[in-house]
Amino acid sequence: MSVAALSAADDAARTSDAPRPDAGVEVRLERLSKSFGSVTAVDNVNLTIPAGAFVTLLGPSGSGKTTTLNLIAGFLAPDAGNIAFDGRPVASVPPHRRNIGMVFQSYALFPHMTVFDNVAYPLRMRNRLAREALTIRVGESLELVGLTKLEARYPRQLSGGQQQRVAMARALVSRPRLLLMDEPLGALDKKLRERLQGEIKDIHRRIGSTFVYVTHDQTEALTMSDLVVVMRDSRIVQVGSPRSVYEAPVDAFVADFLGGANLLPGEVMANERDAYAVRIANGRMISVPQTGASHAPGSKVLVFIRPEDVKISHSEEMVGNVVTTAAVVREVLFLGESFKVTAMVGPHPVVLRAPRVQAEGIEIGGHVMLAWPPERSRALAAPTGSVSP
Ligand SMILES: Nc1ncnc2c1ncn2[C@@H]1O[C@H](COP(=O)(O)OP(=O)(O)O)[C@@H](O)[C@H]1O
Ligand SMILES: [Mg+2]
Repeated sequence: MSVAALSAADDAARTSDAPRPDAGVEVRLERLSKSFGSVTAVDNVNLTIPAGAFVTLLGPSGSGKTTTLNLIAGFLAPDAGNIAFDGRPVASVPPHRRNIGMVFQSYALFPHMTVFDNVAYPLRMRNRLAREALTIRVGESLELVGLTKLEARYPRQLSGGQQQRVAMARALVSRPRLLLMDEPLGALDKKLRERLQGEIKDIHRRIGSTFVYVTHDQTEALTMSDLVVVMRDSRIVQVGSPRSVYEAPVDAFVADFLGGANLLPGEVMANERDAYAVRIANGRMISVPQTGASHAPGSKVLVFIRPEDVKISHSEEMVGNVVTTAAVVREVLFLGESFKVTAMVGPHPVVLRAPRVQAEGIEIGGHVMLAWPPERSRALAAPTGSVSP
């Protein structure tokens, strides 16, 4: 096939809604490390990002997310380790030849250029397309982000959300096989952020490129990703689907970082068949499934349970496979559709959500029974130095 025929086929594939099978690149990070002076920013990171996946790097500020992204982009060189795209090392490939698009939180638009010229910029720098082809490509890219009518405007004439759309169109105009986004919605208000989250997911589905998305917002990571990579202190602590990292966090940090987690200190008293018998602060023995890391009898653990899995139990409902424990109500907050209730188990708070009908009669200082399905709980290793029950 001639080059012209190839690129025509490429155009046909792009204009149909199905992503091209080779649209996304696989990215592999092997033992990747990067320091700045005495600060280790990325420490021995191993990660495979599947071709075409939407992968989120999630972690608190300073955990190494941006540095990882800059290493993938080639803006930084690793001190040690390798990066490969589709199995080929990219160490000697400069950023502008890695076929990537990049979007930053601070849109980084050229203020003196129109929307059209901002989006056309990468093509003019790299590709030397004929004017007509360039216009088509810019139009296609603006269409993807829903900005077709604003080509002639300047960035200052656009809202924050529109500016971020322009930045996305500019990153997509070269049809990158890899799109890197560093907290792209961080500067926008909640409603707009949620709308753009949906639009970015939609763009991902339409073009099929690999997306690596950085955020410190756990809801954003859970709603958008195929794969969540949780980072802390320059390292990866867990990789998994949104459901698996939410429901089966590997430790108390991940449990807490992914959304309100109840963590009740306890001690493993026995190891029975598939369950641990754990004694919690009020002296009660509860059953926790044996999954993940194993804990010997005598180990201090944190019993993890999500607020939405805890119910205030009325005695007649305490049948079947539930764990129950007595608690004293400390706080009841009205949230609109439900109440947020904090109840104390010994000295330790357990937070739960009570629908309005269930919250009738729950008073501060009142004695209640809490109940949860044991299979929703996990025994996590207690960080050293934590309070014992
Ligand atoms: N250019 C730099 N010079 C010195 N230290 C840096 C530089 N870039 C990042 N760091 C440090 O590396 C660590 C990781 O930073 P970063 O990758 O930006 O984290 P994140 O994006 O998760 O907030 C932090 O301690 C940060 O202060
Ligand atoms: Mg950052």
